[in-house]
Amino acid sequence: MTEQEIKKELLAKFKEVFGYDNGVKVYFAPGRVNLIGEHTDYNGGHVFPCALTIGTYGAVAKRDDKKIRFFSLNFEKIGVKETSLSDLTPSDEAGWTNYPKGIVWALEKRGMLPDTGFDMVIFGNIPNGSGLSSSASLEVLTGFILRDLYGLDLTNIDLAVIGQYSENNFNGCNCGIMDQFASAMGKKDNAIFLDTSDLSYEYAPIKLAGAKIIIANTNKKHKLTDSQYNARRQMCEEALAIFQTKLDIKGLGDLSAEEFEANKDMLKDPDMQKKAKHAVYENIRTKDAVEALKAGDIEKFGKLMRQSHESLRDDYDVTGIELDTLAEEAWKIPGVIGSRMTGGGFGGCTVSIVKDEAIENFKETVGKKYLEKIGYEATFYTVEIGDGPRVID
Ligand code: GLA
Repeated sequence: MTEQEIKKELLAKFKEVFGYDNGVKVYFAPGRVNLIGEHTDYNGGHVFPCALTIGTYGAVAKRDDKKIRFFSLNFEKIGVKETSLSDLTPSDEAGWTNYPKGIVWALEKRGMLPDTGFDMVIFGNIPNGSGLSSSASLEVLTGFILRDLYGLDLTNIDLAVIGQYSENNFNGCNCGIMDQFASAMGKKDNAIFLDTSDLSYEYAPIKLAGAKIIIANTNKKHKLTDSQYNARRQMCEEALAIFQTKLDIKGLGDLSAEEFEANKDMLKDPDMQKKAKHAVYENIRTKDAVEALKAGDIEKFGKLMRQSHESLRDDYDVTGIELDTLAEEAWKIPGVIGSRMTGGGFGGCTVSIVKDEAIENFKETVGKKYLEKIGYEATFYTVEIGDGPRVID
């Protein structure tokens, strides 16, 4: 579906569900894929994501009272969910609407509670559970919409910070800032080299002569990521606290390889040492990868992607057989420059850089091996790097 077709469908659904169509505007915020720098964003390290051209669309209008009503084209059966500005608490029953509700709640914490409620119909074209940040796109979308409707004085970086804050404190996932930042700050044909220790960033043009970025979705169902994710984060925080008894650092991302090697025995738990090692070396790899890209050394970038996956598999332990199969089969194929898991892990997607002439063989061979080993199919998409949130005129 084209963007205009999505807009038309959203507006028609809005009228059908809420019974009016005056004052309705349509908006979009993108999902993201991370090229390298995984599980570094809550360790004060670097990440290198880009916004996608797929994401979440919303048709929204202000109301005169305090009610907030939600409807999703992705979950039509759930029907309309209703809440109000004075009832901003998370609940299992609220399902997906906990994400937009969380943004309203986070705005209230900032003293920016809108003075009226609103009606919202959304549609997302990010595959469900793919780890391409459908929730972050919904958070950024909601922040962007409310800024526009209520004239809130917020930058796009503020929208990312608010999104992360609501996900951490309202939705209970202790994620870093990468996904919300990539969605809020996305720029067509560019990746974002972000230092999560101070949110300084730089755009890096992604011009791959004769190659494309391909996402492969494991289609793994039933992800239990939040608890595992939070456990990894906690272990890194404990490692940091131990290092801080001796070293003047704010995050594991502050450590050089030499400093880590000289001090790693302070971490007595071998598992904790492995987790901290990943955080330190993944951050170094990310900086090296961006240097390599700037120097036009895409082969080196690809090697670092592979090392990133190996570290996530062997030390950080967040891959699993599905992601490992996709990455390991990809590495065997001539013309695959690099391949690794992207996002939180335990399922979701890999990201690969593949030479144009190798793409068909890559999809066919990796797809076949995956089906043989896992028993269901993987899905492949060619990445287009898009812009951040916007109004759809
Ligand atoms: C998830 C989180 C991000 C980041 C990645 C791993 O996508 O939302 O903040 O930690 O996992 O790099």
